[in-house]
Amino acid sequence: MNDPLPLVLVTRALPDGWLGALDGRCTMIVGDADTPGLDPPLLDALPRAEGILCLLTERIDADLLDRAPQLRVVSTMAVGVDNIDVAACTARGIPVGHTPGVLTEATADLAMALLLATARRLPQAAADVREGRWSTWSPTGWLGADLCGATLGIVGLGKIGAALARRAHGFGLALCHASPSPRPELEAALGIRHVPLPELLACSDFVSLHVPLTEHTHRLIDARALARMKPTALLVNTARGPIVDPGALAEALHAGTIAGAALDVTDPEPLPPTHPLLTCPNLIVLPHIGSATWGTRRRMAELAANNLLAGLEGRRLLHPVDPTMAIRPRP
Ligand code: GLV
Repeated sequence: MNDPLPLVLVTRALPDGWLGALDGRCTMIVGDADTPGLDPPLLDALPRAEGILCLLTERIDADLLDRAPQLRVVSTMAVGVDNIDVAACTARGIPVGHTPGVLTEATADLAMALLLATARRLPQAAADVREGRWSTWSPTGWLGADLCGATLGIVGLGKIGAALARRAHGFGLALCHASPSPRPELEAALGIRHVPLPELLACSDFVSLHVPLTEHTHRLIDARALARMKPTALLVNTARGPIVDPGALAEALHAGTIAGAALDVTDPEPLPPTHPLLTCPNLIVLPHIGSATWGTRRRMAELAANNLLAGLEGRRLLHPVDPTMAIRPRP
């Protein structure tokens, strides 16, 4: 007997209830929770799949799409779509959904946390306590950088960049942003100046990246960009790893071209244990946890499920990806 429900591949298992909207609306084949990519049972089912719900760890490219002739929608539980060949999907009439908005506050919180942690040298100070190197209160021990009165340069004044600006305002930071175009109303509301990127790099004490990964932003922060920054400056990246040239950053940190960096995202992810970045002084690396709160991840899953359902039912997705904003995944 034919199954009347559309077949959907969910690439990684999610906690109970997060995809409750799909119950009874489709037949699901679910991948392993901890393994990135499509497991063999999902690969075998590709020819029959009408929907894919994936995470940022899955590469959805033309080869995969060629094996899925019935596919009607791709829905990712992420805002970034650099793992998906959106142009190849669009060429096949397959809409791609993503999850902007619901992760804005959690990701801005993490950017602020990284800024504070790196400015005040929290990892070093905490490790010194644990490892017995704290013998007395010291007038010159663990000194860091002041936030109040310093300048934060935000690269990309989208939703997350603006949410960081709101937080930074409360810490007394002066704000500037470099974005493709000025946004006068938002700038007035946030008290933030629009400046060209080279000026932002030269005048900022802290630089935080909030652009999507595209052809234009790949390696935006390279050796030349790092050389423009102050030797006391700190770099925060909660956007996408490939926006920063990791080799150039490792050299800049070793040479003291900049004072430190805090990365929630790297290129590659994860960094191999021998990667030169991991020997750098004043570097924090986190395992890509910008949106990692229970509430946020659940909201992302719910939105991804609703994007998927809309695609299966031939409706406009709640949050379709703009094909002009997307990058082709690298080979
Ligand atoms: C996380 O990095 C996302 O793109 O949602």
